[in-house]
Amino acid sequence: MGLLNLKIDLKMNFYMNQRRLRASAQIRDLAATVLVSHRDLIQPIFVEEGLLQRVESRTMSGVFTDTEGSVLQQIANDLAQGVNKFLLFPIPNQRFEYNFNFEFATKVVQSIKKKFGDAVWLACDVCLCSYTVHGHCGVLNEEKTRMENAKTVKILADYALQLAQSGADCIAPSDMTDGRIKAIRNLLDTEGYDFVSIMSYSSKFSSNFYGPFRDVCKSSPDKSLKLKNRKTYQIDPRNLHDAMRSSLRDAEEGADFLMVKPALPYLDILTRLSQKVDIPLVIYHVSGEYAAIDLLAKENLIEKSAAHIELWTSFKRAGASAIITYAARNGKTWLETYSDF
Ligand code: PBG
Repeated sequence: MGLLNLKIDLKMNFYMNQRRLRASAQIRDLAATVLVSHRDLIQPIFVEEGLLQRVESRTMSGVFTDTEGSVLQQIANDLAQGVNKFLLFPIPNQRFEYNFNFEFATKVVQSIKKKFGDAVWLACDVCLCSYTVHGHCGVLNEEKTRMENAKTVKILADYALQLAQSGADCIAPSDMTDGRIKAIRNLLDTEGYDFVSIMSYSSKFSSNFYGPFRDVCKSSPDKSLKLKNRKTYQIDPRNLHDAMRSSLRDAEEGADFLMVKPALPYLDILTRLSQKVDIPLVIYHVSGEYAAIDLLAKENLIEKSAAHIELWTSFKRAGASAIITYAARNGKTWLETYSDF
């Protein structure tokens, strides 16, 4: 019956004109079902201990590793550009095996909050990969063959509390141990930080797209160990069940935001989650995805700003409330210029 109707409509040649709603910039605006705003965007920032001068990433244009001093200027510039949400990655110059020291991170959080107060919403990544001697996201057993879940969770919760005490607005655990959301939520609540939110990297995949980030953070796992990669704790790209269950579990443990990471290869997970939970979803357009666009743009094969806007649109369409992107600081200018692309 449906097929029959379609045939008739094709003949009549009016029902199938999909181009009417594409015909002008104005009508395209009116027909749009999603709107990206620079207010949806979160800017990652990297601060390295002992760094004398800020350096630009080799592979990600406009992305810098800041010094303790230069990050304040960077944030001031970003605020002027309309960015007021940040995700901090501290890079300490000491590496540890068991007894971790988080003083550098807490110092950076304190100085940012002291200078900018509530003008800046500051989330801090919580993971041990920039802290461990071997580059894994947590503590390993003696034989260095697996990650020790319980020990790692305890250290992460302690780290999260120190960040909250320093003024962080949000704790963003990216380590992928089990039970860390519950442990962090409990500790924060017990210590009187119930107002600090948790953004869980809940559906984080073992991905090939983290390369430029690991280059910046010096956080690649040591290849000489038996445990060569993060496959025993990050999610297998083939395992839809794991991605769903990990996110749903973190929601139950008290996460305020869930996250899907990387972005483009995993939009199906985002859509599926958006149909299952009533919790804001964040998507992380990761370093390798960002660098890929840079490379195309260098060859004049893509318009960088329009490409990012197209991607951000796809993230919102798939169900994201917020987007972590290295191009957040360009968002307002780009979106104003390319309101119709
Ligand atoms: C730390 C962490 C990683 C990223 C964010 N937090 C790297 C990893 O898991 O190896 C990747 C971000 C990016 O590639 O932009 N665990």
